[in-house]
Amino acid sequence: MRVGIDQIGFYTPNKYVDMVDLAHARQEDPDKYLIGIGQSQMSVADQTQDAVSMGINATQFYLKRIERQRVGLLIFGTESGVDQSKSASLFVKSALKLPPEVRTFEVKEACFGMTAGVMIARDYVRLHPHQTAIVIGSDIARYGVGSGGEVTQGAGSVSLLIAAEPRILAINEGHSAFSQDINDFWRPNGMATALVDGKYSTQVYLDFFTQTFKQYKKLKGWQTSDFTALAYHLPFTKMGLKANRLAVAGQAEVTKTRLEKNFTAAAQYGRTVGNIYTASLYLSLLSLLENKKLQPDNKIGLFSYGSGAMGEFYSGQVVSGYERQLDVVQDQKMLARRQRLTVAQYEQVFNNALLDPSDGLELTSDEQVGYWYFAGTKGQVRQYRQV
Ligand code: COA
Repeated sequence: MRVGIDQIGFYTPNKYVDMVDLAHARQEDPDKYLIGIGQSQMSVADQTQDAVSMGINATQFYLKRIERQRVGLLIFGTESGVDQSKSASLFVKSALKLPPEVRTFEVKEACFGMTAGVMIARDYVRLHPHQTAIVIGSDIARYGVGSGGEVTQGAGSVSLLIAAEPRILAINEGHSAFSQDINDFWRPNGMATALVDGKYSTQVYLDFFTQTFKQYKKLKGWQTSDFTALAYHLPFTKMGLKANRLAVAGQAEVTKTRLEKNFTAAAQYGRTVGNIYTASLYLSLLSLLENKKLQPDNKIGLFSYGSGAMGEFYSGQVVSGYERQLDVVQDQKMLARRQRLTVAQYEQVFNNALLDPSDGLELTSDEQVGYWYFAGTKGQVRQYRQV
């Protein structure tokens, strides 16, 4: 029995900043952002979009295509949690009217959280093949206005349905994991923005990639040339590009060209959305699937990295007819609908979103009809509504 990704949903908020505008405002050469960092735009979440509302929005798109009653597990990976105790997933379960029998919880290990969820979901479906599992990654990457990491912010969510006999990507047996207790990126309790040593983080990411990719190939008896594409966790596309350069070093021209072209396709969405922490790897996968014509059984390698730090490499095989499960038009409309903010508008929206609205204040959203949003708190209970 094959187990893997059967559905993919994606959501990003309706506002963005252009990196050329940001570079001018920060007195930087635009090429530093566009080429040196590898980002063109970044989505901006206003006060009405949080990890929960984005997770609901990413999941609701495919929900009408699946049997709700078969969902037995719902896992929410995030490092932008909205409560120290209650899981983000319970709000999602309620909004989407999933059955009360669903087992649901939130997981955390920086950007690795969604992959942790995928692995738990895969094992669950193996044991319960008639049930399915929803895994959501949803985050707002915030380093702060004018900070060194500002250019690598973003906001969005990806939701996966993991099922037996999946219709998009069958996950292969085996994985290669690696962890180490380090301080490259973290967000202490009470801080709304992250602390990061970006250069150290990049070095650890590359070391973990080298280690897990090598171990995985050894485990499977495979070569780099066996992979059609490699999808990476992309806090900013240059980071993945550096890993991809390591992967293709010394390879035959045909392998090098293929992996480089497919890297570009996989980085396309992340380049305009920015960092979405837990869901970044899965946005890369979606970008690859929607911007490249793949063949049945093509082998896709996936490298997941979470600061702190945890790395894992695994792979999947493309399933015949996968295109029919995707909604390229919807996903591209999602990006195209965003309103371009000036840098001054972005700063105002960003700083306002750091504040908790006063209890009892009802927030309204400028999202399109059908989308969910955070409407403020009542008696300190978070309220979610649909436009
Ligand atoms: N044209 C083209 N490239 C340029 C350039 C120009 N005019 N000016 C600079 N660059 C290149 C630099 O050479 C460098 O490339 P390299 O990484 O290949 O060496 C790159 O742009 C970045 O320049 P740098 O001076 O290192 O930028 P910085 O000090 O502003 O730091 C980050 C950049 C990414 C480290 C910083 O934004 C950060 O810490 N971001 C958060 C990182 C993160 O997300 N960590 C969590 C990971 S999971």
